[in-house]
Amino acid sequence: MLGAAGPVVRDAPPESGRPVEVRDYETADEPSWLRCRALGLLDTSHGDEARQFKVRTDLELVAAGDNVVIGLLDVAVPGAEATIDVAVVHPDHRRRGIASALLGQALQRLERCGVHTVDAWVRDDEPALAWFARHGFVEAEQYLRIHASAEEVGTVLSVKHGLEPVAAVLHARVERETEMRHRFERVQVCRRMVRVLA
Ligand SMILES: CC(C)(COP(=O)(O)OP(=O)(O)OC[C@H]1O[C@@H](n2cnc3c(N)ncnc32)[C@H](O)[C@@H]1OP(=O)(O)O)[C@@H](O)C(=O)NCCC(=O)NCCS
Repeated sequence: MLGAAGPVVRDAPPESGRPVEVRDYETADEPSWLRCRALGLLDTSHGDEARQFKVRTDLELVAAGDNVVIGLLDVAVPGAEATIDVAVVHPDHRRRGIASALLGQALQRLERCGVHTVDAWVRDDEPALAWFARHGFVEAEQYLRIHASAEEVGTVLSVKHGLEPVAAVLHARVERETEMRHRFERVQVCRRMVRVLA
């Protein structure tokens, strides 16, 4: 359903002199896809989310130079509402239009398939928020994501069935942000960014 009509070859980013190709993910990309994801998320609120294999999804695009993945975009397409699972560009290749090229290719295919809405959940990462805003995504809703440490978790969860919680990820309504920031060290606002397609 979401297959490419053909690979799109973009102009070379000015610094590298090598052409960058936007194309479908291939199984052979997995090692460099994982490296790109890990390095690209290091300086973000997702920095502690390591992954040792790629989770497959409906639309998987990569930007590759010399067959090395330097940008990636995964989109889940369960129906007419699609969700961007991940959009990452290697830190050495940012602000050269790579993520925008990936999104442009994805939107063309999604529109052809009758998708009418694309969304993404974004945390407190300014570059990502700026990038989504630049591409016409608007904030639709928010919630709090709380990473409770071993000490903090004991203040909200207790031993049950002989199992002692040592850490937890908790969700809360954004209206409770001030209270949650007093109680927990690591609180992130998660924003649903939405773009309606033509
Ligand atoms: C968000 C991200 C994918 C953008 O990739 P990119 O290839 O650098 O983006 P593009 O070059 O296509 O677009 C650049 C535009 O996005 C916005 N933008 C991107 N980074 C920005 C930053 N650090 N500060 C402000 N605006 C920024 C600007 O509008 C910019 O245009 P400009 O350079 O003319 O000012 C990249 O920063 C990234 O990988 N971030 C870490 C992963 C992440 O947080 N992903 C999103 C959630 S999964």
